[in-house]
Order: sequence, then structure tokens, then C-alpha cells
Amino acid sequence: MSEHIEPSGIPHDELAAQVAAALPQWLPSQRWFGGKDREIDSVSAVSWTTLLDGDPLLLHLVVRVEQGDRRELYQLLIGSRQSQLPDVAAAASIGLEDGRTCYEASGDADLTACLLDFIAEGKRIGSMTFEHEPGADLTTGLRGHPITSEQSNTSLVYGHHHILKLFRKLGSGVNKDLVLHRALHELGSQQIAEPLGSISAEVDGEDVTIGMLQRFLPDAADGWVMATTSVRDFMADTAGLPPEELGGDFAGEAYRLGKAVATVHADLARALGTEQAGADDVRRAVDSMLARLERVSAQVPALARHADAVRPVLERVADVAVPVSTQSVHGDLHLGQVLRTVNGWLLLDFEGEPAASVAERAALASPLRDVASMLRSFDYAAQQLLVGQPDDPETTARAMSWARRNRAAFCDGYGKVAGQDPRDDAALLRALELDKAVYEVAYEHANRPDWLTVPMASIERILSEGE
Ligand SMILES: Nc1ncnc2c1ncn2[C@@H]1O[C@H](COP(=O)(O)OP(=O)(O)O)[C@@H](O)[C@H]1O
Ligand SMILES: [Mg+2]
Repeated sequence: MSEHIEPSGIPHDELAAQVAAALPQWLPSQRWFGGKDREIDSVSAVSWTTLLDGDPLLLHLVVRVEQGDRRELYQLLIGSRQSQLPDVAAAASIGLEDGRTCYEASGDADLTACLLDFIAEGKRIGSMTFEHEPGADLTTGLRGHPITSEQSNTSLVYGHHHILKLFRKLGSGVNKDLVLHRALHELGSQQIAEPLGSISAEVDGEDVTIGMLQRFLPDAADGWVMATTSVRDFMADTAGLPPEELGGDFAGEAYRLGKAVATVHADLARALGTEQAGADDVRRAVDSMLARLERVSAQVPALARHADAVRPVLERVADVAVPVSTQSVHGDLHLGQVLRTVNGWLLLDFEGEPAASVAERAALASPLRDVASMLRSFDYAAQQLLVGQPDDPETTARAMSWARRNRAAFCDGYGKVAGQDPRDDAALLRALELDKAVYEVAYEHANRPDWLTVPMASIERILSEGE
């Protein structure tokens, strides 16, 4: 960065407006920006708060991004220094109209250190509120470093003690991730990373969650890494040993993971209640799955070829016995959202599907939706090694057998705790798995066409397995 803003030389509202004006160019290159599918019509500053004044300067900024009929709020941390520019990624640099430069400051540990301290102090600054959870034990004075595996949000790890997630796309009210973490923690859940604090800001007259602080588990292993390592070991074993004799067999973990997910579902039901969905609700759910099938089939010919076979499987859900019990669920459960600690499995990130609207995320659902979603993840773990490889029926069969074994173990574990095997609800589970696979077809078609083979192979498998 060669130039920068003189912090004293420009009023902060003007700086906020200038940054907003520069964002239509800058946002599309940010990994967390959810609107890459459309042109940006305009970006305007909705609110800004000076967190650190002078030099360096740290400004919290909420902007509204307009794209046709879509309007979303995003948050940014804007940093500016007169001298000693920090070593932040070039992609963080935001060039302003008059040739000066500032930067997105979540990678500047000198500046973000204050966020943790403000949470510990319970500070209010302008329209922003920093709070710690009752009884939270916080270590302060630590620097925050962004994790590299971030997806839809930006998370800062403070000295192996705490992790602060800054929600990028802002919803309204208290974020579902925070609501569910609080509810589970109150029950003493051992299957989550303890919530320690939060940051909220008044946006358009409403308090909106913009950050959540949790205990960081430095020694935890990522579920996706563990599962795919097991797949690799299994595929590499040319002696053809049965999976239970391989060192890297994952089925025991899949079983324990099933138990953990069922425990979280039971806790969520206890903490936040259940509702009974009647025939009309079920019909609406079926219609929305059918609508997704038609929408995606219209874009992806490979799916369209199977649509006639998928449709009756979705339709059959309309005949399930009502009422169907619904409750708060995870909403985006997969192997990349679970951590294995010495004490067992933890579930992370209860915000729901990134592409879903706030209302869709908050809607109660059958817990089988999470089960179906995790079952899909076992298929992904097994098949990701085959992406881009020449078709080899033997290798494919072996990958499928890993997935089959681990899906079954997961269901066994789930059923053990829930008291009912999820496979007993075969019609609903099958439809939910297909619906998820249709969603994946749309995602892969738009983002990673090479991977389309993964959900397509699963759709063919689910259809061929019958009931
Ligand atoms: N408490 C934690 N301890 C250790 N790692 C964590 C913790 N929380 C999150 N992570 C890591 O950060 C990643 C992103 O966190 P997540 O809550 O899923 O955010 P996002 O909404 O950006 O997906 C996780 O996949 C995991 O690798
Ligand atoms: Mg996540």
C-alpha cells in the first residue's frame, strides 16, 4: 500500500461514504461476499462507529448492497494508518476515489485486539454493544488472527483461547447461531464450543448480532479432514482388508458423531420446544422441494434426465403419517462443521445454509433434515477423491462401500440416543437426501462443475436403491 488516509484529515462519515463508493469494485473479490452471482447496483453506508480514533484508526462499517431486487447488509472493519502500514493481504486494500487507500482490517491483529477487550469490558460505543455471557471466563490482552479455513464469515482466533466470528452478511435481530448456542449452553450441552460473548449493533433501528465469541478448541480435529483421511487409507489399501481391520476406519467415529447429533437435537427440542407439522405444512414442504427440482432441472440437463424418477420420491412425503415433529435444527450440518475433541464430537456453526434467507433459516424443521445432510456429507467425503479421475468401477464401488459403512454407523449412533432409527422414516429421509443432493447439483453447477458428478452419482444411487 503506497498511500493512505490521514485519519485527522477526513470526517469519519465522509470516510464511510467514500469506502462504500469503492466497494462495488472491491466486494466481488472477497471470499465471504455472497452476491457474486449478480452485478452490484450500489453500496451505501448504513452506519459507522469509530472503534479506535486517531492513528491508527479503526472504523466499524455496515453497508447495504443493492443488486436488482436483492438488498443485503454486510459489515466491514476499516483500518487506516498514517505510517507503518500493516502487513495485510493485498486483497484487503481498498482504493478510494481521491487516490488514498484504506484497508479491511480484520487481518490487522494490532487493531482487532480491542474487540476482545471491549467484550470483556462490556463496552458500549455509539450504537455498538459488546457483551460477555454471564459467568464467561475471558483472557484479555490477546491478538486476534484470522483463521484461513473461513467460509461465509470471518473468524479471529485470540491466542488459542477464544474465537470471534464476525458475521459478514447481517440478518435481523439475534443471529440464530448465537440463539442456539446460548440455548444449548444453558442446558449444559457438551456438544458445542461454549459461547462467551457477543457484539451487536443497532442497524435501521434494530439490534443485530454482528459477532459471537466462543471458546477455541486448539487441539480439535476437523471432521472433514478425519473422514477424508480415512477414505484415503481405505482406498490405498490394495490388500483389500475389510474396513474394520484398517487403522483408519472411521465407523466408530461416525457412530459417536451420530450420538452427538441426536443429543444436540434432543437438547434443542428441550430448550426451544417442538411443533407438530400437519398435512398442510407437509404439502408446503413437498411443494418447495418439487419447485427446487424444477428450477435446478431447468438449468442442469444431467439432473433433468432424472427428474421424472425423483419427483415421485418427493411426492411420497405428502403421504407420511402426520403430524411430523419439527424443531430448531442445525440447518447446514456436514463433516466440515463438526470437531472431534478428546471429549467427543462438537457441532459448530448453527447459522443454517448460507444461501437461505433469514426466515428459511429460522423455520423449524424435521431433525431428519440434519441427518440427511450429514449422510450426504459421507458421500462427499468418499467421492471427493474420484473428482476429475477417469471412471473406474472398482474404485467407485470401494468409495461407495466406505460411504455406506459410515452412513450406517452414523444412523446406528443416532438411533441409539434418539430411541428411533432415522432409517425407520425411510420415505422422508430418502426425500430429504434427494432434496439436499438437488441443492448440491445447483451449487456445483454454479461453482465447481467438475464436482457435479458427486451429487449426480448419489442421486442415481438413491433412486436405484429403492425403498
Ligand atoms: N471453537 C472452535 N474451536 C476450534 N476451531 C473452530 C472453532 N469454531 C470454529 N472453528 C474453525 O473455524 C471454522 C469456521 O467456523 P464456522 O463457525 O463454521 O464459521 P463459518 O460461518 O465462517 O463457516 C470451522 O470450520 C473450524 O475449522
Ligand atoms: Mg461453517
